[in-house]
Amino acid sequence: MWKTMELWMETLKYHEGRTILLAPKPAHAPSKAIAFYNPRMAFNRDISVLTLKAHIKIVSGEGLRICDAMTGVGARGIRYAREVEEVSEVVLNDLNPIALQFAEYNSHLNKVNEKTRIVHDEANRALSLASTPDSRFDLVDLDPFGTPVPYIDSGVRALKIEGIFAATATDLPVLQGIHPRAADRRYGASIYPTDYGHELAIRVLIQKIIRVAAAHELASYPIFCYYADHYVRVNLTLKRGKENINSLLDQIGYVEHCHECGYRKSLLHLNEFSKLCPICRRELKLIGPVWLGPLFDETYCRNMLGLVATVPLREENRIRKFLSLTLEEVNSPALFYSLSSICDRLNIPQKGLLGVVDDLRKLGYRASRTHIKGDAVKTDAPINVVEEVLKP
Ligand SMILES: C[S@@+](CC[C@H](N)C(=O)[O-])C[C@H]1O[C@@H](n2cnc3c(N)ncnc32)[C@H](O)[C@@H]1O
Ligand SMILES: [Zn+2]
Repeated sequence: MWKTMELWMETLKYHEGRTILLAPKPAHAPSKAIAFYNPRMAFNRDISVLTLKAHIKIVSGEGLRICDAMTGVGARGIRYAREVEEVSEVVLNDLNPIALQFAEYNSHLNKVNEKTRIVHDEANRALSLASTPDSRFDLVDLDPFGTPVPYIDSGVRALKIEGIFAATATDLPVLQGIHPRAADRRYGASIYPTDYGHELAIRVLIQKIIRVAAAHELASYPIFCYYADHYVRVNLTLKRGKENINSLLDQIGYVEHCHECGYRKSLLHLNEFSKLCPICRRELKLIGPVWLGPLFDETYCRNMLGLVATVPLREENRIRKFLSLTLEEVNSPALFYSLSSICDRLNIPQKGLLGVVDDLRKLGYRASRTHIKGDAVKTDAPINVVEEVLKP
């Protein structure tokens, strides 16, 4: 049966890493396709393969079991099966039976059909069926249309301690605060649009996952969480221990933000909220709750960078540059300033980013570039200091 796939609809073959993927010829939007495959997400899947490989180096592991809960044509799950030796079983689950025909075809095409199991189920149900201790997975991957929130609870319950909880969110307008009521409903957070909205998006999603896991007495540590293209992707690993959970919750806080002058500050406690901007005296907005701890674990970033040469990557240079930036960002403060936003507002020419990072460090502040935006600096310096550094 699997060999006849190409005959009954127009298809294309794509190469990603060491994997070949057959998918329906693209519709005008991937989400409108008869079965979902988006070649532009290859970067996301490349990073997923590198994250899992790094994880295996760090915590070791054999016979790993993975649930690709929304597999589409199987792209991500089949890449795990084909490109990560230590993987012994991948559940390729989807609600769309046509997508699953492609997933089955692609499993055979890549000779991993003995490692994959095709499951036609609703993601929450498939994950809930794996919530007993002996059936949990080493990696749960959530890649829905839009928000992963409805699947976090079942995803966490289906994951082993030291496993990876991986999720993509494409509902960036909500996560950046363009739809504050939806942000409240989905993430239980107050968010307003800012020029660092992509940073907030990552941090709002992380706090939600930490909270859901905490309710199950599980500590979920961010290991590699980023923004790229039109989505946020997070990877967290589970540990036990009340102290671990409490110390994660202690790093969930707020941001006070001034829409007038661009002042922003992260706050660990609500009672630190100043209400009025210390610079221009306008009323401040309170954003949050948001995760204020690290987005990346340095050991993961280093290992992933070291592993780049082991996977054939179409965008190898982009990935190297991206991973180097995440390494710079490992110990940086939570928020960034966009230099172009400040320079436009002050009507001054823009200075080089590296010079600005250097100047802020010389003044005793922490400062680094960020993977999120090419012209932005992450720093604990207040905005008036950044402005002084930028002035000609
Ligand atoms: C963004 S696509 C997945 C893409 C895929 N992971 C990849 O990397 O190419 C989302 C998929 O989720 C499936 N889906 C949506 N809601 C679902 C649910 N509740 N349970 C299972 N699958 C679902 C859709 O059929 C679609 O194939
Ligand atoms: Zn202000």
